[in-house]
Amino acid sequence: MIITFGHTKGGVGKSLLAWHTAIALDVPVVDLDFQKTLVFSNSLRKQAGLEPVDIIHIENDDQFIDMFNTWPDDKDIIIDVGGFDMGINRIALIISDLIITPAIDRVTEMAGLSKFHEILTDISDKFDDADIHTRVLLNDISPSSKDFTVVEELVDDFNRFDMMESRICHRADFYNTMKEGKGVSELSKGKAKSELLSLVDEIMKIKKEA
Ligand SMILES: Nc1ncnc2c1ncn2[C@@H]1O[C@H](COP(=O)(O)OP(=O)(O)OP(=O)(O)O)[C@@H](O)[C@H]1O
Ligand SMILES: [Mg+2]
Repeated sequence: MIITFGHTKGGVGKSLLAWHTAIALDVPVVDLDFQKTLVFSNSLRKQAGLEPVDIIHIENDDQFIDMFNTWPDDKDIIIDVGGFDMGINRIALIISDLIITPAIDRVTEMAGLSKFHEILTDISDKFDDADIHTRVLLNDISPSSKDFTVVEELVDDFNRFDMMESRICHRADFYNTMKEGKGVSELSKGKAKSELLSLVDEIMKIKKEA
């Protein structure tokens, strides 16, 4: 299954979640983020003497298309899409089996989600085979927040979005582990670890149902 963390809005946690999920699932990652966040964390991982994450670099659109034309269904891979709307990121959205769209629960973020929905509709209209839907994942939320109606109502209004059950809070473990080249799943305990493992369980449930 090709699992993509995709949103045209920057800074919503695509790279952070791609990193932790790839380590938890022990699967390769394609890094389309020009900031190369994952490459940097992987160099820290190597320095720490840990088994590096298998990061696949893509040179051009054709190589990307060839790779995924022949991608076996039973093999999982994660794609970290860059936070902007361009050719290769659009291809990633078309070829993915599951797109997870991290969203932060702030009114100001809602314009970004609505813009992304417009882009998904545009791609789906242009390509016969594409009818793109994504799963919105609340990320970086305050651990004390209980009311997510703003995002939930918006997701309800847009036919290409579904809400994920998992929720990821703002937690220091998510960035502190990355600074050490580790994944939260490699910690002995903690809330970040349990939230990430719930997300992984939900991904596996979606995979089974697919
Ligand atoms: N759940 C979280 N807890 C703590 N910090 C978080 C969380 N999610 C994201 N962040 C922080 O928010 C910032 C942006 O995250 P990240 O780089 O993963 O976003 P992105 O969507 O990949 O951005 P871009 O589109 O620019 O590639 C980073 O500093 C990251 O550490
Ligand atoms: Mg990124």
